[in-house]
Amino acid sequence: MTRTHLPFGDKRDSAFYGTDIVSVSQFDKDDLDYIFEVAHEMRNMVARIGAFDLLKGKLLANLFYEPSTRTSSSFTAAMERLGGGVISINEVRYSSVSKGESLPDTVRTLERYADVIVLRHPDVGATALAARYTTKPIINAGDGVGEHPTQALLDLFTIREELGDVDGLTVTMVGDLKYGRTVHSLAKLLSGFDVNLQFVSPDILPMPDDILAGLDESGAPYEQLNSLDSVIAGTDVLYVTRVQRERFDDEADYDRVKNEFVIDTDTLTAAKQRMIVMHPLPRVNEITMEVDDDPRAAYFRQMEYGMYVRMALLAMVLGKA
Ligand code: NCD
Repeated sequence: MTRTHLPFGDKRDSAFYGTDIVSVSQFDKDDLDYIFEVAHEMRNMVARIGAFDLLKGKLLANLFYEPSTRTSSSFTAAMERLGGGVISINEVRYSSVSKGESLPDTVRTLERYADVIVLRHPDVGATALAARYTTKPIINAGDGVGEHPTQALLDLFTIREELGDVDGLTVTMVGDLKYGRTVHSLAKLLSGFDVNLQFVSPDILPMPDDILAGLDESGAPYEQLNSLDSVIAGTDVLYVTRVQRERFDDEADYDRVKNEFVIDTDTLTAAKQRMIVMHPLPRVNEITMEVDDDPRAAYFRQMEYGMYVRMALLAMVLGKA
């Protein structure tokens, strides 16, 4: 059923109210449909009126222990477009973290001021840990090389808004599949759909075994490759990732693989006309700037979809969707 107005009062609202968002594994297909329906409605509302007062009087604490441009500013934009306010701790260096304050104490502080906490942290499992110390909803904005669930939700929303049905698509993920947390979450999320997954990476940066084991368990078909040549023509979604320099122990390893996969206009000559190129950004060298002018380059549109998804998620966990 398509809703024509913001879906107040649905039974599902109470299921999300106060919920932490830690991993994509917590969502079933009905949840996803609901999130995307609300996100789509948010998109329409922003187009029509720009901002509205759904979360007036509510405060978000944005707590970032790692650099961020898009995730932090899109959560801020999402909260402000819904009439709420934001406490931004984007440089923990300047907060009491530099005095040795623990993560549990920092979230116990912020929950006294804010209604919802968004956390990015270098340690896998940091959001799950922090959630044990706060009664307010906490949202994982990236936990080291673990997951980035809100990115995967916006990635899936992008695919749906751009290509329609997800079932039947071939999704090719290319680049740093070992340390890229966005592809970990996206692969998990897509395993619930009838998709064909292709993982293309340098040999030292494959998709981790635990993600592959999850795909095996769900029966999702995938292939691991070290070249795009045999798969580009059949690809519907080319999901490109940055080689995550900050996760390497040895800089020489980074230098060896950093330019192994570079998408340029030549790469796209072999691709379908109806396909999209996605990237969570920031991009370094892995997509040349000429590709930006190709209508199939969806990565700038993808950022905007992220704001609508984050608006939906904030409204839902605060019981206002
Ligand atoms: C990604 C991240 O932080 O994992 N960026 C983002 O949130 N859009 C990808 C990256 O840093 O390469």
